[in-house]
Amino acid sequence: MTPIHRVIKNKTTSISPIWFMRQAGRYLPEFREIRKSNPNFINLCLNEKITPEITLQPLNRFNLDAAIIFSDILMVPHGLNQKVEFKKNYGPSLGDLELKKILEIKEDEFNNKLLPVYKAIDIVSKNEITKNKDVIGFVGAPWTILVYMLNKKSPKLEIDINKTIFDKFKEAELEMILKTVIKFLKIHIKNQIDNGASLIQIFDSWAGLLNEKLYSKYIFNPTIELVEFTKSLNVPVICFPRNIKDYKRFCEVVKPDVVNIDYDVDPKEISNKIKIPIQGGLDPKILLGDIAQLKKNAINYLKIFKDHPYIFNLGHGVLPETDPKTIDYLVKLVKDFK
Ligand code: CP3
Repeated sequence: MTPIHRVIKNKTTSISPIWFMRQAGRYLPEFREIRKSNPNFINLCLNEKITPEITLQPLNRFNLDAAIIFSDILMVPHGLNQKVEFKKNYGPSLGDLELKKILEIKEDEFNNKLLPVYKAIDIVSKNEITKNKDVIGFVGAPWTILVYMLNKKSPKLEIDINKTIFDKFKEAELEMILKTVIKFLKIHIKNQIDNGASLIQIFDSWAGLLNEKLYSKYIFNPTIELVEFTKSLNVPVICFPRNIKDYKRFCEVVKPDVVNIDYDVDPKEISNKIKIPIQGGLDPKILLGDIAQLKKNAINYLKIFKDHPYIFNLGHGVLPETDPKTIDYLVKLVKDFK
């Protein structure tokens, strides 16, 4: 069993396995080098020759317990024929959603469009370096995907989701889109598992934007469908409902195998409240400061979760400004902690 599976299945607490969200990315010079000659991010994600290489870049440097496939949550809207672009200093930019086109999309067409992602997972999972490690497949949660498809850009830039979502679309329309999105997220999960993903993470990056009254409809029920589906394929599932008001309630209702916490969550309080395995938490900004501060903060998490099944990770992705040496330091610190 891999170290992460031992934490999930056997609830082991002796050593924390470690991996990072955005462990393959711009903080690595070898990634930036590839990116320079591949300006189109979607095409890069669909290049099955290069994505396995990028996926393995952090594993070649650090003693990590998992590879997360180099792809993006917005590959699903791309698979659904919505235009998706990534603009420099702007982030994702999506085309108008053509409701009729999306409702009519065939499974074969979607599978064909995303085939390189699945081929890349197959290549990565067969690479010697991932032996006894997990290969993590992932999807965006239905709510977060809905936000991008309808808001058409990061809600960081435009936070009035009423204006772009709830006032603009009829409830019946939102339900139809959500239903289609859930259907294809399930297909995407299954395809990743069939090609070697041994763990699935569901990213709900914009859970914190939603009014609590709407949690059941847009967060809990749609996520439960994906969690139950993944479990039925005998693969554990990690949920990251970032900035959700009540992680405990989320866990009780949705029942993921693992929950990833964000850096606004008090680790001490959550370790008492939640009994299932926990992942992450440390503020990625701490990795930009001095090493003594990092050591203090990382050890704080390790001590708090000493007797709790815990997977070391951050409270969000590695920032592009991070020095790879800091990641190296942190991995060794976690591995040597007793
Ligand atoms: O290493 C890994 O974590 C695997 C690959 C991965 C990427 N995106 C690569 C990526 C994963 C798991 C994601 C998830 C993702 N993508 C999320 C959920 C997690 C989160 O960050 O909240 C979201 C919301 C997206 C959508 C997305 N993709 C945004 C908003 C951006 C632009 C902002 C940014 O960080 O640049 C991306 C681009 C993106 N996805 C990059 C990478 C490495 C940067 C691409 C580049 O410019 O080189």
